[in-house]
Amino acid sequence: GTNRPSDLIIFGGTGDLAMRMLFPSLYFLDSDGHLADDVRIIGAARSDLDRDGFLETVHERLKSHIAADYYDEALWQRFAKRIDYCPVDAVEGTGFDSLAKAVRLDEGGELVCYFSTAPRFYGDICTHLKAHGLAGKNTRVVLEKPIGHDLLSCRAVNDAVGAVFAEDRIYRIDHYLGKETVQNLLALRFANSLFEPLWNANGIEQVQITISETVGVEGRWSYYNDSGALRDMLQNHMLQLLCLVAMEPPNTLDADAVRDEKLKVLRSLRPITKQENTLKSVAGQYTAGAVGGTAVPGYLDEAQEESRTETFVALRADIDNWRWRGVPFYLRTGKRLPYRYSEIFIQFKGVPHSIFPEESNLTLDSNKLVIRLQPEENIKLCVMNKVPGLGRDGMKLQEVSLDLSMTKEARTRRRRIAYERLLLDVLNANSTLFVRRDETEAAWAWVDGISKGWRDLDLKPKPYSAGTWGPAASVALTERYGHSWHD
Ligand code: BG6
Repeated sequence: GTNRPSDLIIFGGTGDLAMRMLFPSLYFLDSDGHLADDVRIIGAARSDLDRDGFLETVHERLKSHIAADYYDEALWQRFAKRIDYCPVDAVEGTGFDSLAKAVRLDEGGELVCYFSTAPRFYGDICTHLKAHGLAGKNTRVVLEKPIGHDLLSCRAVNDAVGAVFAEDRIYRIDHYLGKETVQNLLALRFANSLFEPLWNANGIEQVQITISETVGVEGRWSYYNDSGALRDMLQNHMLQLLCLVAMEPPNTLDADAVRDEKLKVLRSLRPITKQENTLKSVAGQYTAGAVGGTAVPGYLDEAQEESRTETFVALRADIDNWRWRGVPFYLRTGKRLPYRYSEIFIQFKGVPHSIFPEESNLTLDSNKLVIRLQPEENIKLCVMNKVPGLGRDGMKLQEVSLDLSMTKEARTRRRRIAYERLLLDVLNANSTLFVRRDETEAAWAWVDGISKGWRDLDLKPKPYSAGTWGPAASVALTERYGHSWHD
């Protein structure tokens, strides 16, 4: 914490992300006593609203997005006092003089600017901040994804922001890094000595990361159709999870110590060549079907135009370093799949020799570690166990799971929004959970190779019915290497 006054400006303050995630997160931080008394929040957007008009919208949306049990009128009243609004136009630069008057930099205050607009405005906003004296060493900026749609456009955004702010003032957000169980993965790996000796190609057979969604495009048509699953989910969230599983132990939890290790992983990803493209990657697009018993239209029905945008992607990644040589990392994500869940699945190598009679168990299952990020948060370690009993049954084995989830207390507590932790970290100037420029660029370089392969081979995404696990080719992808997806 700091005793200096802090102002948080949210550009794109009337937008969907601000209303759905940022204001609810700030409300909860405030309710739980995590916001210093002098933190103020200024919404900035094009709409010509006054403070009362803005507050009304925030209030209404907040009530619709958080569970009624968590809404408290007195807490809202206190929270509302922090909020202000300022109309701005990022292109024209109007409104920045009023912003400059509203913030308290000359009192030694700190300023956090959250960019929740389309990334094409990031550069302009920076220019205007600078012109109005708002880009000094007490200012930090938070960049929402997508930072570009390929390496070149990512560099352009980074250059534009970098022309005004030094890298250590830039916080690139990946909300997956704010999820509780993702943090717990770090604890599991680096606060226990049990796993580390096995955490490599000698001990691990395969790793799978799945982010499965039931929703479709949800009105974000123009963004999503230019993006697709590879750019929307895999380039950022999934590769970040992969990094946390695969990285070497950092020396400390300091931002650069952690990010240096993640960067090494990204740079060790073996490029998927055009020749290997169809072996190692699958793109899919949903057709009409049913999810959870409800009929839903296909992607193209919603699009009402031709589109090769993939709504599903599965691939095999290889990490070319000593630790991971030969271990497949299967990644899979899609919209309109049967269930909503995110999971990291780690299968260890089997025992070298079974001493048990064959009838003990058909297969001696190898140990597995299953890390569930959502909808529930838990970690399970699957081990073989003897079925209790005597006599003719002899030695029967079964797989049981040790539940490593948090304490009961943690389970009954309100689940935090990932943005809560990340917003608090920005206010405290802690950038460990934010993505550095070289990481985003390394991730794009690898992902560009895959999309270029699809283009060069003139591939269309393979159709799958909404409510299924993606195209059959996704099953074939892992089976080709002797593995199957964990369900
Ligand atoms: C966003 C993507 O980054 O993550 C969305 O743009 C996706 O398409 C969302 O739905 C998933 O986040 P979560 O936290 O609900 O798994």
